[in-house]
Amino acid sequence: FSAFLTDSFGRQHSYLRISLTERCNLRCQYCMPEEGVPLTPKADLLTTEEILTLARLFVREGVTKIRLTGGEPLIRPDVVDIVARLRRLEGLRTIGVTTNGINLARLLPQLQKAGLSAINISLDTLVPAKFEFIVRRKGFHKVMEGIHKAIELGYNPVKVNCVVIRGLNEDELIDFVALTKGLPLDMRFIEYMPFDGNKWNFKKMVSYKEMLDTIRQQWPEMEKLPEEESSTAKAFKIPGFEGQISFITSMSEHFCGTCNRLRITADGNLKVCLFGNSEVSLRDHLRAGASEQELLRIIGAAVGRKKRQHAGMFNISQMKNRPMILIELFLMLQ
Ligand code: GTP
Ligand code: 5AD
Ligand code: SF4
Repeated sequence: FSAFLTDSFGRQHSYLRISLTERCNLRCQYCMPEEGVPLTPKADLLTTEEILTLARLFVREGVTKIRLTGGEPLIRPDVVDIVARLRRLEGLRTIGVTTNGINLARLLPQLQKAGLSAINISLDTLVPAKFEFIVRRKGFHKVMEGIHKAIELGYNPVKVNCVVIRGLNEDELIDFVALTKGLPLDMRFIEYMPFDGNKWNFKKMVSYKEMLDTIRQQWPEMEKLPEEESSTAKAFKIPGFEGQISFITSMSEHFCGTCNRLRITADGNLKVCLFGNSEVSLRDHLRAGASEQELLRIIGAAVGRKKRQHAGMFNISQMKNRPMILIELFLMLQ
């Protein structure tokens, strides 16, 4: 495995997440303010050629999985073309997309033909009116249509991401789990994380343990599945159900130790950790005419600086005796 993609703790980064755009056709409360986020001028965003150049380099060094993210990746006009061109990269096994599902049913046949292999769809409620409240837009039925289209076209599992927020949707856990009875879904409950200005507070976060308790009360027979390497999720199954249930415990039990991810922002910055602001502009180096060797050295230096675990990713259970307000401040300052 490439030394450039291996950090000082021996973690091999074989999973690259590429943001195709900062824009989004929704305004989820926990992610964006009503007015949206300030947009980078188009000229500063990576072009399709630049995305391909970087992807080619990363795949040559050992990346086997690329996930396209956003904003909302399916609003980039040439997303199908990007998938088709990524598919031609030898050594790349998985091309995934994380989408809000609005454009999914419409685009999926073309995306599948282009070579898209994995789909994660965000859905935080099964109640249409609540959907509009959370995402501040319409579209519940489009998302559901997208989920069913993905199943119909053979994606298995279709991963559904649900950010669980107290007072908002924690009362729907059982209904979400019930969906996995007859559908090949991986229903993933995500602990609510603090990001700039998303009004996170400790009380709104529902921990993995608490979710597990709620679901176990209904289905005590639920079994834990073996852990997959470098997965963000802990998986469970209710015997007889077609799908499974997972928990992404970013807050209560971080998974930094097995992290294999790197990300490239829409404007071409390499980020070695989701939390933390240390970024290096690959775009600027590309545009200044850097050679592949120079780019690799820059990437390798950034990966080499990756911390063992980011300060924002601590284990809450080890911090019981800290005042909540300090923990909150600590997180908001990351
Ligand atoms: P798979 O590629 O299918 O394993 O999905 P994923 O979980 O990596 O990606 P997805 O885009 O579906 O993200 C779901 C959730 O995973 C996000 O809301 C985050 O909570 C978490 N996540 C994704 N990437 C990272 C990461 O690099 N660090 C941390 N801490 N959490 C991440
Ligand atoms: N906490 C946890 N997950 C979040 N996501 C967006 N914002 C947050 C947050 N504050 C999720 C989205 C999407 C995934 C990529 O990240 O719901 O499914
Ligand atoms: Fe953010 Fe995704 Fe919601 Fe868009 S759909 S506002 S990117 S969480």
